[in-house]
Amino acid sequence: MTVASDAPILFFDSGVGGLSILAPARIALPTAPIVYAADSAGFPYGTKSEAEIAARVPALLGRLVERYRPRLAVIACNTASTIALQHVRAALDIPVAGTVPAIKPAALQSKSRVFGVLGTDATVRQPYVDRLAAEHGADCTVLRHGSAALVQLAEAKLRGEPLDPAVARDALSGLLNQPGGDRMDTVVLACTHFPLVEAELAAAAPRPLAFLHGGEGIARRIAWLTQGQDWPASPAPGTAVFTRLDQGIELLRPALAGYGLARIEAL
Ligand code: DGL
Repeated sequence: MTVASDAPILFFDSGVGGLSILAPARIALPTAPIVYAADSAGFPYGTKSEAEIAARVPALLGRLVERYRPRLAVIACNTASTIALQHVRAALDIPVAGTVPAIKPAALQSKSRVFGVLGTDATVRQPYVDRLAAEHGADCTVLRHGSAALVQLAEAKLRGEPLDPAVARDALSGLLNQPGGDRMDTVVLACTHFPLVEAELAAAAPRPLAFLHGGEGIARRIAWLTQGQDWPASPAPGTAVFTRLDQGIELLRPALAGYGLARIEAL
C-alpha cells in the first residue's frame, strides 16, 4: 500500500514522556509529519491497574488513528507498551512500535553485573520485565524501583516549574538502598518521562551511574518500519493532541514548541 507523504507518525504517551522518544526520531527523520498524543485525562498511567490500561490505551489509539490517519503508531510509554502493546496491535491496521525497557543493553554493558530498572510502579511489576531480565541478565542482579514522583518531576520541568532535588535523590535511593545496590553501575530509565530528568538524576547520584533508555533504538526501528516511504520535502509544524486541555497544558506550550509541536488540540 502506498503511504501519502503527508501521513504523520503518531506518538502516544500519558503525558510529556514520549517527547524523549520523539526527539531522536526527529533527528532520524527530520521532515516526518508528527502528531504527538498525550492522554492527559488518563495521566498518570503508572499508578493504574493493568485492566484499566489494557482497556483505555487501544480504544484511544483507535480514535487517534481514525482522526489523523498515521502511517505508524509509536507507543512512547513503557507502561502502556509492557501492558497493552499486543491489544493495540490487534486493534489497529497500521504498524505499531512499542517502548521496551533497555534491559538488554544494560546487561551487555554493566561491569558490576548489578543494574537497576527505574520505571513506574505498573511497569516494574510486569512479567515482561521478568522475562527480559531472565533472557538477557541471567547472571545479573536486577534491582527494580517504581517512582510516580519522578514522572511528576518531568511534567513539572517541562512546565518550567522549580524542581525539588529530593525527588530524584529518593528515586535513586529506592534502587541504591536495596541489597546489592552499593554495586549498581547502570540504571535503565524504563519510563519515557525519566530521560527528561536525566540531568537531575545524574546530579542526585552519589557516584557516576550510566543511565540507559531506548530512544535511539526506537528511532532506528521507526526508520526501518517506514523505509522506502515518501516524506515531505521540508518539515512542517507538528501537532500535540491532549485528551483534556487545561491550564497546565498551556504552560507546556514553549517546551512543546522546542520539539516542533506548534499546534495544540483536544481529542
Ligand atoms: N511515560 C510513561 C512510561 O513510560 C508513564 C508515566 C505515567 O503516566 O505514569 O511509563
